[in-house]
Amino acid sequence: MPVELREITAETVRIICGLEVAEEQSDYVAPVAISIAQAHFEPRATFRAIYAEDEPVGFMLWRDGDKPDAAYLWRFMVDRRHQGKGYGRAALEQVFALLKARGITTLSASVVRGEHSPLGFYLSIGFIEANEVTSTGEWLILKSL
Ligand SMILES: CC(C)(COP(=O)(O)OP(=O)(O)OC[C@H]1O[C@@H](n2cnc3c(N)ncnc32)[C@H](O)[C@@H]1OP(=O)(O)O)[C@@H](O)C(=O)NCCC(=O)NCCS
Repeated sequence: MPVELREITAETVRIICGLEVAEEQSDYVAPVAISIAQAHFEPRATFRAIYAEDEPVGFMLWRDGDKPDAAYLWRFMVDRRHQGKGYGRAALEQVFALLKARGITTLSASVVRGEHSPLGFYLSIGFIEANEVTSTGEWLILKSL
């Protein structure tokens, strides 16, 4: 499923902020507008819109870690109308390649566990559970790049 990671511009920011997850998933990820606002206060952050066939379908935000070979996937979502089409996996694989090319060897993320949790998605793409809870009470997962 080919996707493109594109920079968000003044022209596209409103439509990207309109992307949303299903209601039952809303406890698992912050709204896109909040993520973009937070990213502006984090110098180590990078965020991109996910496009499929010229249409915005999702959003992702990551940041460099404290160690030079580590990064953290901070936010990640595919709009509810576009889930289950392989876009999430394809976008994440692009980020793996981008980070690997920069010498990063470990990508971490954290998930809320529960009925609609994305944990199964992350495990299916090669993340493993660190069996550790983060300072914010989420379940830590790790991917070797
Ligand atoms: C998690 C999310 C980004 C996945 O995006 P997606 O585009 O729907 O995922 P894909 O279509 O690429 O799915 C890839 C694989 O993961 C599986 N998968 C997707 N969501 C899953 C879930 N919640 N649990 C278990 N498996 C899941 C798919 O069945 C697919 O498996 P396959 O390759 O064997 O067919 C999307 O469901 C989402 O935005 N969820 C709400 C927000 C969220 O939880 N974000 C993560 C915050 S940490």
